[in-house]
Amino acid sequence: MNDRKEQKQKWWKESIAYQIYPRSFQDSNGDGIGDLRGIIERLDYLQYLGIDLLWLSPVYDSPNDDNGYDIRDYHGILDEYGTMEDMDELIAEAGKRGIRLLMDLVANHTSDEHAWFIESRSAKDSPKRDWYIWRPGKDGKEPTNWECGFGGSAWEYDEQSGEYFLHCFSPKQPDLNWENPEVRRELYAMIDWWMDKGIAGFRVDAITYIKKNPQFPQLEAEPGRDFAPIEKVSLNQEGILDFLREMKREALEPRGAITVAEAPGVPLEQIGDFVDETDGVFTMLFQFNHVDLDIKPGGKAEFVDWDMKKFKDALSLWQQESNRHGWMGLFLENHDHVRSVSKFGNDGPYRDLSAKMLAAYYFLMRGTPFIYQGQEIGMTNCPFDSIHEYRDIGSLNLFRDETAKGRPAEEILGYLGKRSRDHGRTPMQWNGEREAGFTSGTPWIKVNPNYREINVAENMKNEDSVLQFYRRLIALRREHRSLVYGYYDDLCKESKEVGAYQRTYNGERWVVLCNFTGRSVSLQQLTEIPLDGERVLSNYEDRDQNTLRPYEALVFRWRRK
Ligand code: NOJ
Repeated sequence: MNDRKEQKQKWWKESIAYQIYPRSFQDSNGDGIGDLRGIIERLDYLQYLGIDLLWLSPVYDSPNDDNGYDIRDYHGILDEYGTMEDMDELIAEAGKRGIRLLMDLVANHTSDEHAWFIESRSAKDSPKRDWYIWRPGKDGKEPTNWECGFGGSAWEYDEQSGEYFLHCFSPKQPDLNWENPEVRRELYAMIDWWMDKGIAGFRVDAITYIKKNPQFPQLEAEPGRDFAPIEKVSLNQEGILDFLREMKREALEPRGAITVAEAPGVPLEQIGDFVDETDGVFTMLFQFNHVDLDIKPGGKAEFVDWDMKKFKDALSLWQQESNRHGWMGLFLENHDHVRSVSKFGNDGPYRDLSAKMLAAYYFLMRGTPFIYQGQEIGMTNCPFDSIHEYRDIGSLNLFRDETAKGRPAEEILGYLGKRSRDHGRTPMQWNGEREAGFTSGTPWIKVNPNYREINVAENMKNEDSVLQFYRRLIALRREHRSLVYGYYDDLCKESKEVGAYQRTYNGERWVVLCNFTGRSVSLQQLTEIPLDGERVLSNYEDRDQNTLRPYEALVFRWRRK
């Protein structure tokens, strides 16, 4: 068919990736903070799980305003995490187990404590002044009414020079000026330096923010609001591809770096520019439509109506397009999002069943699957009791700003209960012992109280656990190239209750069929679904010929004739 393109076989397409949020993975020295030695101790577990690509959220030296996404030194490791020797050891030890590393490339901004920024702010005529984005105020106020991602103005006043600098995220994360070629050269040299260490590449943070609207226009703010979201003028702006293509040419391609772009704001039509096999800039792309469908874009703590039909439509749109262009990084969770079983499944009576169903649904799509730490044991959202238990800067600022505007605290807490990034950041639940085996000290963030029931040790013992189901999925994908390279087609597109698709490759066919609800669905009504294939995997032991039971997932295969 002309809407699909034969794609080259690549090791990273066949990989299974895992994301570690180092602060919450494993503490080895009792300070309550996860660290590199902790990760090294757990490599055998990752090997047992079956992954071969590891994305580490930032471990660089940082004042930790945004948990490491504010880098003070790209060539240093934060003391709390260990040393550069530990990092080298991690790369080597992972390598021995067939696991390659992706570092987090945070190139849109640095920390305000980075030497470049300190020099930049030191004087108006500093040689590094232009490395960041400085503007004089307007009528005694900020240069524009842009609002940063964590609330409040995107401009921070600097007393010393009497000018403002721009930050898309927190004021401690000043944006680098990508228009300046010296900045870009330094960043490429840094990429090179890390590639020399033997890593496979990078997850590329906030990369669609690097180009700003050169007019620096005033924006229209919603009634009652002083500011308007910066995304309109800083996300995927015209001209961004010149920067990205240069970075590919000068830094990524020569080193064969594997890249997964965090690319919010990229419309489907543009997927080819970002991840086409020949012309695209990156190797894989994360899109966010399926995890952000519950909130009003650019809104402040406002939910919108959504259902599982919207969830599957959001995913399938990109799946269908990826038959032609590019390669997706598949995910349900990461450190910026809540736990998938709590959001898309059922974290009550059907917890394990729905966690397995969701796993089967996304894992066998077209792309490279990423598992976020704890997802493989079905970790759930955490019952935070008060605002004092939250740690995330975005959540804390939101609470502060919205309650200051008069919104009831209960309302904002209700929002955070369903949306805070901290749900994905509670410590990894290793066992039923104190603090879930994460630390012998006091954890930096609360451990989810359900750790006695949900933990790795229990999951390892139980043949029927979520973890074992993930292991089976991984084995299945490793065994069958058709699950890697097969084309994707939607089935039961109109159903609100059932998610289904097929993968086809070289005469082989697979069908994945999932019940998104806690009710049984009659199979007779699913006329599009052929049920005569070999049943290869399910989250139920037996087979029911007539119904798809609550949260049931079925995977069928038809061999090549
Ligand atoms: C995206 C990261 O995933 C998030 O955690 C961070 O706050 C922002 N980029 C800013 O770096």
